[in-house]
Amino acid sequence: MSYVLGIDLGTSAVKVLLVNRKGQVVKESMKEYQLYQDHPGYSEQNPEDWYKQTVEAIKEITNQFEDKDQIAGISFSGQMHGLVLLDEKNEVLRRAILWNDTRTTEQCHEIEQTLTREKLLSITKNVALEGFTLPKILWVQQHEPETFKKAATFLLPKDYVRFRLTGKLNMDYSDAAGTLLLDVAKNEWSAEICHTFNIDKNMCPELVDSHHKVGELLPNVANEIGLNPSTSVFAGGADNACGAIGSGILEDGKTLSSIGTSGVVLSYEKDSDKDFNGKVHYFNHGAENVYYTMGVTLAAGYSLSWFKNVFAPNTEMDDLVKGVSNSSVGANGLMFTPYLVGERTPHADANIRSSFIGVSSTHQVHDFTRAVIEGITFSLNESIEIFREQGKVINEVVSIGGGAKSSEWLQIQADIFNAKVVKLNSEQGPGMGAAMLAAYGLGWFNSLKECADAFLKVKETYEPIEKNVHQYEKLFNIYKEIYHSTKKLNDSLKEFR
Ligand code: XUL
Repeated sequence: MSYVLGIDLGTSAVKVLLVNRKGQVVKESMKEYQLYQDHPGYSEQNPEDWYKQTVEAIKEITNQFEDKDQIAGISFSGQMHGLVLLDEKNEVLRRAILWNDTRTTEQCHEIEQTLTREKLLSITKNVALEGFTLPKILWVQQHEPETFKKAATFLLPKDYVRFRLTGKLNMDYSDAAGTLLLDVAKNEWSAEICHTFNIDKNMCPELVDSHHKVGELLPNVANEIGLNPSTSVFAGGADNACGAIGSGILEDGKTLSSIGTSGVVLSYEKDSDKDFNGKVHYFNHGAENVYYTMGVTLAAGYSLSWFKNVFAPNTEMDDLVKGVSNSSVGANGLMFTPYLVGERTPHADANIRSSFIGVSSTHQVHDFTRAVIEGITFSLNESIEIFREQGKVINEVVSIGGGAKSSEWLQIQADIFNAKVVKLNSEQGPGMGAAMLAAYGLGWFNSLKECADAFLKVKETYEPIEKNVHQYEKLFNIYKEIYHSTKKLNDSLKEFR
C-alpha cells in the first residue's frame, strides 16, 4: 500500500496527515508555533518556526511508521496571504506578516485610489483588504525601505516550507489569487499592478497548478525527516482551496462552511466572470481552471478559544461546547459579534470590535458560550445571505473544522443557515485536500473529483428544525444591526487601544 502526506500549515500549528490509497488517515501529528503580536493589529510569525515544526511533525510520523518507504508524495495547504520576503540568497529578510494583521489600512486606500477600485476588481476580482499580500508589500516598501531594497522574491507561507524541503521557488494559482497581484482570469502575474506599485515582476515566483510536481526532497532534508529523497513534492494550495478539495466542493451547487481560526463560507464557481462587486472574495480553486467565492469571518474559532482562555480556562473545550444545550436558542437574550480582530465579510472594517449585547445577571457561562457560537454562525450566515441574494441556491452545506466537531454546533449551523448540514468522514478539510492533491498528482486518480468520490463519505446530516429556523431569522435581523450600532463607538475607542 502506498501513502501520501498532507501538510496543513495553519496559523496556530502545522498538522500532518498520513493518508493511504483509500483516503484513510493512518497517522497524524501536530506542532504549534508562536504568534508575535508586538503592536495592536500586528500579527507575525517566524518562517523558520514553520519549517522546524513541519520537520518535527513529519518526523513524529515517520519515526513510528515502518512502511515509510511507501510514502510516495507530499503536498501542502497553507494559511493564505502571509508575506515572506527573501533576499537574493533566498534568506528570510523579516518575520512574515500574516493574513490577520491589520496594519495596512492606509495601503489599501492607496491601492484603490491609485489603480481605481474598478481596475483592481477587473484584474484581481477582489477589493483591497488589509489581510491580502499586496498591501503588506507596500507597507514594507514604505516603512522598511532598507529591507525592501534587499528583497529578491516574495512567497506565501506554505511556499516557503516547500522551498526548504525541495530548494524550488514556486507559488500555485489558488494562493497567488490572494496576493492581489494575480490576473485571476488569465492565470498570470499582473504586469500592470506590479508596474503601478514599483514591484519588480521578478519578485513574483513561477506559477504552477496545485497538483503540479515541483520536485523531490533535498537529500539532506530527506535524510533528516526519514523519507526517500525521490518522494514527489506537489505544489499544494491555499488552505481554503484545500479545505474545499478535502470536502468535495468540486462541482456546481456545493457550499462549504469551515471554522478554523478564521471561518469561511465558500461556494464553487465554474467561471471567472460572475460579478459579486467585491462583496465576497473570488479566488482560483486548487482544481484546474475553476474558481470559488468566499466570505470570511476573521475571528471564528479564534473567538471561541479567546472566550475559553479568558473566561473558562479550566474547562475542556468539548465540555464548554456541550454546555450550550443548557442554554436555549438565542442564548436567553444574549448576543455576540465575533469582531475581536476587526471583520472582513460583509463589513470590511479593521477597526470594529466585538460586543456582548443583552448581558443580564441571570446569564451563565453556557449562555455566553452559546452566544459566541451563535455569533460566529450568524457572521457566516451573512456570507450565505450574500450568495443567496446573487441567486445561488444553498440547500446543503458541508461543515468542517471546529464547527463540525460538535453535534450541538452542527445543529445550530443547520438552523441558522436554514440548510441541511453535512459532516463527512474526514472533517480535516485542508490537510485532506493537501493529501488529495498529492494523490492526484501521483496519478492515483484521473481527477480530484474522482479522488473525492473515493476518499470522502457522508457521516452525519443535520436537518434544520423549523421552530428554531423562525427564531433564528428574527435573531439574525437583530444581530445585523449590532455592527451599525457599534461602529461609531468603536471608532471613538480606537485611540485608547
Ligand atoms: C482567507 C483568509 C483566512 C486564512 C486563514 O482570505 O485570510 O481564511 O486563509 O488561514
